[in-house]
Amino acid sequence: MKEIFPLPPPLVHNQFEAVRDLFTKNVVPSYGRFDLALSHGAGSYVFDVAGIRYLDLGSGIAVCCLGHAHPAITEALVEQSRKLIHVSNLYFTEPQGRLAAEIVKHIGAGKVFFSNSGAEANEGLFKLARKFGHDEGRFEILTATNSFHGRTMAGIAATGQDKVKKGFEPMMPGFRHIPFNDLDAARKAISPATVAILIEGVQGEGGVTPATPEYLLGLRQLCDEKKLLLLMDEVQCGYFRTGKFLSFQRILEDWEGRRFADPNIQGRRHAVPPEFLPDGISMAKSLGGGFPMGAFWVRAPYADLLGPGTHATTFGGTPLACAVALKIFEVVECEHLAENARKLGGRLKSELERLAKTYPTVVKNARGLGFMLGFELAEKIPAFASSDKSAAVQFTNRMQAAGVLVIPAGTQVIRLLPPLNLKPQEAGEGIAKIEEVIKSLV
Ligand SMILES: Cc1ncc(COP(=O)(O)O)c(C=O)c1O
Repeated sequence: MKEIFPLPPPLVHNQFEAVRDLFTKNVVPSYGRFDLALSHGAGSYVFDVAGIRYLDLGSGIAVCCLGHAHPAITEALVEQSRKLIHVSNLYFTEPQGRLAAEIVKHIGAGKVFFSNSGAEANEGLFKLARKFGHDEGRFEILTATNSFHGRTMAGIAATGQDKVKKGFEPMMPGFRHIPFNDLDAARKAISPATVAILIEGVQGEGGVTPATPEYLLGLRQLCDEKKLLLLMDEVQCGYFRTGKFLSFQRILEDWEGRRFADPNIQGRRHAVPPEFLPDGISMAKSLGGGFPMGAFWVRAPYADLLGPGTHATTFGGTPLACAVALKIFEVVECEHLAENARKLGGRLKSELERLAKTYPTVVKNARGLGFMLGFELAEKIPAFASSDKSAAVQFTNRMQAAGVLVIPAGTQVIRLLPPLNLKPQEAGEGIAKIEEVIKSLV
């Protein structure tokens, strides 16, 4: 009898082009994508469809905090999916309650609402602010220039960058922008309609710019004085990336440390406000380590403002998402990953500063905290002159050719947002490759 063999799969000579064709024909072209089709990953590395390996120093824009294909995440997903994936928020589920308690433990007295993304978490904060000011007719939220708060209609209105608004006007009313890290400007901008101020602890998309401790403390005081909510967007800079759970905790801890070390003010450590808390905080990205989820925390006095029926989302806080997030908290704690972000991030930053000093015609400066780092490229790098792509995109292309993924921010800044479990030798490999690319541009 004649045996029948299944036909072998067709030979694909250029899988990248095949994948890109699928996108060209079928996917809304709203993203500017790099010419890379990725297929799988392990730890800090990802592989493209041709099998080429890349060190991933972007972790999917600050999302894959445990790197790729971490067995703890897979295990949590499999285990929970065998029990319960989704039941809706008509019912109580233990993982959501436990995750909320974990977040409260890391911030302070308050309550948590779960969403699906960063933009949706911010939408919740906007609604919280509107509810807070509603009976007095106050609704306006001040946000910073160069900020980024998401791509929903309210998100682009809140974002302090014209490029996200263009073509979608008229903007949703109720947002005005103020210069970042300028307390006087914030004070002057407050109108009788103002109800809240929203800032990022470290501006990410805007180019990796941390808030100063004086700005944070000053805003807290100003908001108390004017009866405004102080809201913080920790979507990108939060979740242990700076070495503390939230970026403001790191910024203020460093500041207190510096004050304590200052011989002129020693012994007056407790004269500074021992506790700083915003009134609302949005989170997403690393919270689910790649499983899409977001959340916002509300400080205790305002925690019940959004009562039953005022806010909801079908997929918010599913048992599956929350089980994954709980597992990630566990791994971060057991493996001391906040400490890793602080220490190894500090070493990475020193290396970037060295590169800025050594190659000033290519790198202007280095900035950031922990594993949220950026370096600014010099204007008019001759090798970039012949292309109309931004310097940041051209540098990123060269890094990809060298086998490393980095993330552009704006036209001049390169961001490093590695997984929290990045290893020292991987950091060393990344810096060596960055230096190689810089040298090629001198
Ligand atoms: C600071 C900040 N806020 C909000 C968002 C929006 O988050 P998402 O893309 O999950 O909606 C982002 C995304 O990059 C962000 O960086």
